[in-house]
Amino acid sequence: MTSPRTPSRKILLINGHPDAHPNRLCSALATAYGEGAEAAGHQVKRIEVGSLNLPPITSKVAFTAPVSPDVAEIQAAVRDADHLVMIYPLWLGAPPAVFKAFLEQVFRYGLALAAPGEAKGVKGLLGGRSARVVVTMGMPGFIFRLVFFAHGLKCVSRGLLWISGVRPVREMALGPAESPSPAQRLRWLARMRRLGAAAA
Ligand SMILES: Cc1cc2nc3c(=O)[nH]c(=O)nc-3n(C[C@H](O)[C@H](O)[C@H](O)COP(=O)(O)O)c2cc1C
Repeated sequence: MTSPRTPSRKILLINGHPDAHPNRLCSALATAYGEGAEAAGHQVKRIEVGSLNLPPITSKVAFTAPVSPDVAEIQAAVRDADHLVMIYPLWLGAPPAVFKAFLEQVFRYGLALAAPGEAKGVKGLLGGRSARVVVTMGMPGFIFRLVFFAHGLKCVSRGLLWISGVRPVREMALGPAESPSPAQRLRWLARMRRLGAAAA
């Protein structure tokens, strides 16, 4: 049932892990978020990046070329959403290449930003939407923030979503996540369920 304080929202839930196996923490976090959201009456559409096999963009020409039908379908889902949730593991200090290729394919001019020449300066096109970016990692989350300035998260939260007009963009850094204790894993899943219920 929908909580009276949280109107029903359309959530696009993106599991950016290259390995879509449900045993992966990222997959479990996405499932928990989706379950919490649906139980609270929100509409959830889930994308498994690891099952898509999208190639990286290799030139400016390719970036501005018409998109394939499967990318167009994902772009339509982004436009249709009120709230974007992106979950991925930190690999070599950054989003995995497979997830980065997905972002390059989907968030092109016309979806994320107005094409150069079509607007003065940088014009984000995704205003009116909020987002949450969740990154899992081998190191403790506070080390990621203090020593590495959360670069592998900021490149998505600010470098892509914030600049595209998305507000607010909430962030979560979960670690150490290689083999968390069952209690820790349950705490993270419970937190994701609560956030899903609030569509936050
Ligand atoms: C190829 C690869 C690179 C990784 N690089 C990093 C890294 O740079 N920093 C880090 O803290 N953890 C790193 N890790 C650990 C992963 O972030 C961690 O295993 C993952 O977040 C756990 O979530 P999962 O069960 O969904 O895979 C790496 C793991 C792999 C497989």
